[in-house]
Amino acid sequence: MDQRRLKELEKAAKQAMKMAYSPYSNIKVGAAVLCSDGRIYSGCNIENSSYSLTICAERVAASKAVSSGSKKIRSIVITSNLDGFIYPCGACRQFLSEFGNNIDVVLLSSTGRIKKYKLSELLPYVFRLEPKPS
Ligand code: THU
Repeated sequence: MDQRRLKELEKAAKQAMKMAYSPYSNIKVGAAVLCSDGRIYSGCNIENSSYSLTICAERVAASKAVSSGSKKIRSIVITSNLDGFIYPCGACRQFLSEFGNNIDVVLLSSTGRIKKYKLSELLPYVFRLEPKPS
């Protein structure tokens, strides 16, 4: 991913983080995905008083992409209001793996530090079925 696109993703993730609905944890997470068609979608975490219904920022961003017709995700930037880095949870890793071959996962700390991974590093031996032709 070129530097200009990375900066755009970082900006989108930070903007989305501000929209977090997290009155229970007070943790704000923002994510932005870059799709192969060049479009960017962002999302925030959305909590629920029935805690297990909470949805992570990564899945919100990916769901916005897919439901808008962008089904191939190239990269994701994840940021939060915590010190240090937020790693995507296991459910988000599996969810993302459905929509990209080997997504670039960029973690952005609140102080601007960056860590980069491939999704395959974070989720080796992914569960995968061959989609049936429609
Ligand atoms: N959270 C995310 O949005 N993404 C992750 O990868 C990990 C956790 C959110 C969910 C919840 O609102 C808060 O962080 C604490 O778990």
